[in-house]
Amino acid sequence: MKDFLPGLQGVAATKSSISDIDGEKGILSYRGYSLESLAFQSTFEETTLLLLDGELPTSAELHGFSQKLRENYRIKYHIREMMRHFPHTGHPMDMLQTAVSSLGMFYPGTECLTDAEACEDLNYVKNMTVNIIAQMAPLVAMWEHIRNGWDPIQPRKDLSVAKNLLYMFSGEEPDPLMSRIMDVCLILHAEHTLNASTFAALVAGSTLATPYSVISAAIGTLSGPLHGAANQRVVQMLREIGSPKRAEAWVDERLKNKEVIWGMGHREYKVKDPRAKILHGMVKQLVEDRGGELDEMFETAMKVEEVCADRLGHKGVYPNVDFYSGILYSQMGIPEDQFTALFAVARSAGWLAHWREQISDNRIYRPTQIYVGSGPREYVPMAERK
Ligand code: COA
Repeated sequence: MKDFLPGLQGVAATKSSISDIDGEKGILSYRGYSLESLAFQSTFEETTLLLLDGELPTSAELHGFSQKLRENYRIKYHIREMMRHFPHTGHPMDMLQTAVSSLGMFYPGTECLTDAEACEDLNYVKNMTVNIIAQMAPLVAMWEHIRNGWDPIQPRKDLSVAKNLLYMFSGEEPDPLMSRIMDVCLILHAEHTLNASTFAALVAGSTLATPYSVISAAIGTLSGPLHGAANQRVVQMLREIGSPKRAEAWVDERLKNKEVIWGMGHREYKVKDPRAKILHGMVKQLVEDRGGELDEMFETAMKVEEVCADRLGHKGVYPNVDFYSGILYSQMGIPEDQFTALFAVARSAGWLAHWREQISDNRIYRPTQIYVGSGPREYVPMAERK
């Protein structure tokens, strides 16, 4: 009898040295470094290089990598034109998946992905990795302008990924606190072991599909509300609740109807997600920076957290990364439907680190199933069917 574990819970599907979670203690580390040490001391560029290469870079390595990213910010004219023809009501995740997948036609060279030696050309792997990570944020920010019928703002090579992202959204250079918050958000979302979208990337990568197809598969997987789209749902939920006074009754009604509370619970964590703790601290920092006035949405979120701790704590259901990220993005003036796309911008680092690990020692994913369908049957011609 074959074992069947729904959702593959607890099944080890790969070996990896990229990140690790201790879900009982609420610890996440990238390449052995605690998430907190990276969030408070590193940058998205440095963390990305750490994820990709396994070691903290030297200053020259980091400079070279940052330069290459900046040289790749610019989106090709034909891709911009293609985006103008997308329906303006299209969701940013659908736009991003389509645009990234189309990049593969503009940046060929996949013949080095061969069956014999998963990839013979490390230069190709490195160049495509930089190319994809660099273009994710500009694509997302450009879409904001294109879908509103405006010309997109061109990227600036003198800005970091986080700053350039905010600049391309607003047309103004962001203040240092906002830039830092965005940088930390990117670091926190960059990697998270074998989640659904990373698994999708591994499965696609194991077929030796192009990295553009790999990332496109991962973006599609991230777009679901049980995964990346929960951050958008959290903000919608907090708006619907409206004020801290209504939080308790709202949560109880939801639970009575057996509906989930968005931004709560995680397969791996049985305590508060360490990323949620850092984001919670950043919301507080932002509130202090703005003179201590508590935003009503933040107050409502804290009340929902308190009520959920009481109702769901015994099941190990606490805030996950999506619970506070949306509040921060809202404060930056980013539209709700773009939140998951920002998640994808950051997670492209982790996806590509896993892709590189997969193709360096590749075997195609091909699990099995337990067949529960009908036994052998005779085909019935149409005229004889009842
Ligand atoms: N709200 C209410 N109850 C929740 C819950 C939530 N957000 N998350 C989990 N639970 C409950 C389940 O109903 C279940 O209760 P039961 O044992 O009485 O049936 C128990 O906690 C275990 O949850 P389960 O659904 O088995 O966990 P999972 O590992 O399969 O699912 C998630 C994990 C993330 C899909 C789930 O927690 C969820 O749907 N969360 C909301 C969506 C979200 O925020 N996703 C972003 C994840 S980063």
